[in-house]
Amino acid sequence: MASAKFVKVAQVDEIPSGQMKMVEIGSEQVLLANVSGKIYACSDICSHSYASLSEGDLKDEEVQCPLHGGSFNVITGEPMSAPCEEKIKTFEVRIAGQDVLVGPAKD
Ligand code: FES
Repeated sequence: MASAKFVKVAQVDEIPSGQMKMVEIGSEQVLLANVSGKIYACSDICSHSYASLSEGDLKDEEVQCPLHGGSFNVITGEPMSAPCEEKIKTFEVRIAGQDVLVGPAKD
């Protein structure tokens, strides 16, 4: 089993509550979203077609895709409204001091 690897991707103060930031980890685009003071990570790429969710709108834990208006729960990755049907990946997040670290994808 591969050991869990966490990568420093941002500083906590770069993502205030209610805000999002896209980061790249290798070839993966990851969306960091601050929901009520807690930072979550999920795929930045919409599973419907191809759009960067960080360019959409975050309302509580729901991110709305800028292209066709579908949405996902940034905590669970589950689609919340059409035309999104396929779940997006979510990732482990750790905070170490001011550093935001992203780990492996959750199941
Ligand atoms: S590309 Fe995101 S809803 Fe269509």
